[in-house]
Amino acid sequence: MYTIDLSGKSAIVFGVANHRSIAWAIAQQLHQAGARLAIAYQNERLRDAVEGLAKTLGDVLLLECDVSSDENVAATFSQAKERMGSLGVVVHSIAFAQREDMEGRFVDTGREGFRIALETSAYSLVPIARYAAPLMVEGGSIITITFQASERVYPGYNVMGVAKAALENEVRLLAAELGPQNIRVNAVSPGPVNTLAARGIHGFTEMRRVHAERAPLKRNVTQEEVARTALFLCSDMSSGVTGAVVPVDAGYHIMGV
Ligand SMILES: NC(=O)c1ccc[n+]([C@@H]2O[C@H](COP(=O)([O-])OP(=O)(O)OC[C@H]3O[C@@H](n4cnc5c(N)ncnc54)[C@H](O)[C@@H]3O)[C@@H](O)[C@H]2O)c1
Repeated sequence: MYTIDLSGKSAIVFGVANHRSIAWAIAQQLHQAGARLAIAYQNERLRDAVEGLAKTLGDVLLLECDVSSDENVAATFSQAKERMGSLGVVVHSIAFAQREDMEGRFVDTGREGFRIALETSAYSLVPIARYAAPLMVEGGSIITITFQASERVYPGYNVMGVAKAALENEVRLLAAELGPQNIRVNAVSPGPVNTLAARGIHGFTEMRRVHAERAPLKRNVTQEEVARTALFLCSDMSSGVTGAVVPVDAGYHIMGV
C-alpha cells in the first residue's frame, strides 16, 4: 500500500486567513502526513484567528509575512531556517485585487490596481521561490493555487485572470530553473470554493452553480479535495511531475457546452 509520509520534512504554508482558506485545508493535510509545519499569515489582524487554528495542530511555527515587500519574504525564510533548518515543501496560496478591479469592465482597470493585483497574486511567488530554494537542500516541492480564468473569460474575475496567467507562466519558468536542484514547482487549479477571497468575486454564487451543473461530476469541489491533490504534489508520490497545472474542478475544464 502507498501512503504519503512527510515525517522528517518541514513545510511552510502562506495564505491562511481563516478556517475556509484553501491554505488551511492544505496545512491540515501536511500535518496529518507528518510534516513539521510553519504557517505564514499576512498581518496582525489575522493573527488571533490563525493562532486559534494552528493550536488545533499542536506545534506549529507562526510567522507574519506581508508578501508586498521582498524584505518581509526574506525575513520569513530566515526565521524558518533558524527554527526548522531545511525545507521540503512551500505552499503559496495568496491572491489580492482591489474591489473596484473585480467589478465592472476590465477595460477600466487602472494602472495601480493592475500593479497591486499582479504583484500580490503573481509576483509574490518569485521571491518566495528565490528565498525557499537555498533551504531545499535535498530538493523540494513548491506549489501555488491558480484558477481557470488564466485562460478563459470569467466575468468579474477581470485583472485576476491576468494575474493567474502570469502565475502559471511563472510555474513553468521556476520549474525549468529549479528542476536541476530537484525542486519541483506546480499549480493546483481548483473550481470555485467558498472562501473569503472568493466572496469578493462578483457573481461567485452563480459561478459555483454553473460549475456544479456542467462539471462531469455534477458538483463543486471542497477545500479538502483541493488540499489532497496539493498533498500529492508536495510528496514524492508526484516525484516525476513539475511545471504542471493540475485542475481539481470536478472535470469542469474539459467541457465545451
Ligand atoms: N476560492 C476559490 O474559489 C479559488 C479558486 C481557484 C483559486 N483560488 C486561489 O486560492 C488561493 C487562496 O485563496 P482562498 O480562496 O483560500 O481565499 P483566502 O482569502 O482564504 O486566501 C487568500 C489569502 O491571501 C492572503 N494575502 C492577500 N494579500 C496578501 C499579502 N499582501 N501578503 C500575504 N498574504 C496575502 C490573505 O491573507 C489570505 O490568507 C488564491 O490564490 C486564490 O486565487 C481560489
